[in-house]
Amino acid sequence: MRRFADFQGEIYRAGLSGSRPDLPMTAAGLERAAREAMAPEVYDYVAGSAGTESTAAANRGAFLRWEIVPRQLRGSGQPSLATELLGSNLPAPVLLAPIGALSAIRPEAELEVARAAAAVGVPMILSTLTNFSLEQVAAELASAHPGPGRGTGGWFQLYWPADPEIAASLVQRAQAAGYHALVVTVDTWTLAWRPRDLAHGYLPFHRGTGMANYFSDPVFRSRLKAPPEEDPGAAVALWSSLFGNSSLTWTDLARLRAETALPILVKGICHPDDARQALAAGLDGLIVSNHGGRQIDGARAALDCLSQVVAASGDLPVLFDSGIRTGSDVVKALALGARAVLLGRPYAFGLALAGRRGVEHALRCLLAELELAVGLSGHRSVAALSPEDLAHSSS
Ligand code: FNR
Repeated sequence: MRRFADFQGEIYRAGLSGSRPDLPMTAAGLERAAREAMAPEVYDYVAGSAGTESTAAANRGAFLRWEIVPRQLRGSGQPSLATELLGSNLPAPVLLAPIGALSAIRPEAELEVARAAAAVGVPMILSTLTNFSLEQVAAELASAHPGPGRGTGGWFQLYWPADPEIAASLVQRAQAAGYHALVVTVDTWTLAWRPRDLAHGYLPFHRGTGMANYFSDPVFRSRLKAPPEEDPGAAVALWSSLFGNSSLTWTDLARLRAETALPILVKGICHPDDARQALAAGLDGLIVSNHGGRQIDGARAALDCLSQVVAASGDLPVLFDSGIRTGSDVVKALALGARAVLLGRPYAFGLALAGRRGVEHALRCLLAELELAVGLSGHRSVAALSPEDLAHSSS
């Protein structure tokens, strides 16, 4: 069985000959070091949230209000993080969250993230907004980890454009390229008020970063007078005019269900009634998320939405993101009913510090800490976690 916690032994053994990790060992440390290394506007693009950033703070605060109540002497042995999800066996209940415009951080970002995800064995959810096309990233994932049966590889995240034929083309391409699932993000049909980006007058997309899936799309290209290579300004303007689709409804999701064989998960769900809608639309899963606080200032912490959404979701797997920073955070989200979690900003900061190696480092720290926390809480597997393992903080 895979032992993610071996990372700890590796570090202590290297320490015997004087070696120390050259990357920080916590998500907060990764962020602090990355801030020094990144251009200020790029750091703020990643770190920033909507408005006063109260939702991002609430996301973390919610984790601190739950406490793990460990059980002892149960002979649990080494815990297993193995997780079944959408018919695949994952080595751990963790995926990489879709993050758009990663190439603002490093030019080969999406390829480096794909290599890191494949090396560690977690699925990468590729954003629509990338500098390498979804086909190029799929090829990288396949060559980085060609072995069958690990259930890793890629999922594709769709920002549904306000042009149904371009949307259909992106979905068909994702299916043809071998992605295992489609994640439709529904909380970002327009970008929120983000003061940090506004203060820099900076949004990577307007500078052409993150456009590869559009610029390589035959339907998108057919809408242009000149190809993007000849007139990038016009191509970005077209993208901008159709990025958000404010008219989408659950009926569109139900129709999409009928049009693709890929499992469909809807990302950005916080209300139990929306979970019921996802169930009724025949979708395959949902992701509780408030986009890391980047969309609505003053919104409820994503973790506080989780239990009610799980209760309303029937048998659908519920995934979770927004605030995951430590192994214990993952334990808490799983105990509250999430099947798996998405790691977001910490891997982007790892990427900024050391490319592929930095992403691997962020993941290996999280997974080692998770495995230890599951075992030390008295459990043999992540599937055994339940709300009974948690108590509300009295402080
Ligand atoms: C995101 N997120 C995001 N989500 C998505 O569905 N498509 C995308 O392209 C992006 N882009 C993006 C860029 C940046 C810089 C960030 C930080 C986030 C949201 C992401 O998938 C996830 O929901 C959040 O990152 C979770 O919050 P934390 O845990 O990272 O704070």
